Amino acid sequence: DASDIEKGTYPHFMLKEIDEQPFVIRNIIQKYQNKDGTVRLDEDIRNAMKSSDRIYIIAAGTSYHAGLVGKQLIEKIAQRPVEVHIASEFLYNMPLLSENPLFIFISQSGETADLRGVLVDVKEKGYKALTITNVPGSTLSREADFTLHTYAGPEIAVASTKAYTAQMAVLTLLAVDTANAKGIKLDFDPIQELGIVASAMETLCDQKERLEQIARDYLAVTRNCFFIGRAADYFVCLEGALKLKEISYIQAEGFAGGELKHGTIALIEDGTPVIAIATQEHVNLSIRGNVKEVAARGANPCIISMEGLEHDGDAFVIPKVHEHLTSLATVIPLQLISYYAALHRDCDVDKPRNLAKSVTVE
Ligand code: G6P
Repeated sequence: DASDIEKGTYPHFMLKEIDEQPFVIRNIIQKYQNKDGTVRLDEDIRNAMKSSDRIYIIAAGTSYHAGLVGKQLIEKIAQRPVEVHIASEFLYNMPLLSENPLFIFISQSGETADLRGVLVDVKEKGYKALTITNVPGSTLSREADFTLHTYAGPEIAVASTKAYTAQMAVLTLLAVDTANAKGIKLDFDPIQELGIVASAMETLCDQKERLEQIARDYLAVTRNCFFIGRAADYFVCLEGALKLKEISYIQAEGFAGGELKHGTIALIEDGTPVIAIATQEHVNLSIRGNVKEVAARGANPCIISMEGLEHDGDAFVIPKVHEHLTSLATVIPLQLISYYAALHRDCDVDKPRNLAKSVTVE
């Protein structure tokens, strides 16, 4: 059938979509770049970003996790305050809004009902909205004032992979464009650094055997799994845990490195896998301290670190990428480990039970 043709030689859409990520990043660079190698976004979007005093990111699921990274990117690069909210909670726990808010809706499908509820509400109140989506022409795209296309190509697997990295790449360019508009001088070349990310992604996608081995060693039989990370690594832990839950049904949770000991460490038993991410220089020693704490209680730690920060015994090392962009690289081994864990546990990778690709009911 048609789906077999689209999958090509891949056994699953998810694996194909993971492998497409370097191409997607290069595609995004090409779409949002001027001839002279600078970043170019729509002028209306630039003005909306420039004139707002606070940005409210609204999203769900994996897109929410991209939003958490987006907040860091926009605050660090464009020096503009950002809040990130789960769409389904926003209207109940509405924060006090600033004078000139700009709403950013992040949605792969552009159809998620939880987001639409918020969009309708904020438009009624007269606020401006930008939708970052993989489907221009979708409901959220049509009803917002502006759209940024993530150019990831159709994502078929229910578990989101390439849409997530595409969202973060576009958020990077949005932050850069806003910084440019505000006259903030950047200390890095975003186009070049995203190119380095694309190459790192290729290297990571070439290490499937090693990642399959890790999935087998740590996740073949376990009931649960914890992901810990500090600073930017915390957000990618949330996404790594979500991926693992979605497709392998292993109970997985992501924690800030310092937080596990405030409760959840009670769940650590002999052999409980704890995947620790160590790509942030300023917290490298503290995350390794957390690993020692859990190992002392019997956990089976699996450290994924970044080139230059690795220690003997780390399970996997990610090629070095710019500190703002680590999540784009780090998530790839986590996606692949989840994929192989699901495969070994005979799960339906592309169509996990109880989940829908796009949730159009509230
Ligand atoms: C569903 C999917 C998730 C996705 C979430 C948000 O629950 O199963 O993978 O992250 O919706 O989807 P969106 O299309 O708004 O990004």
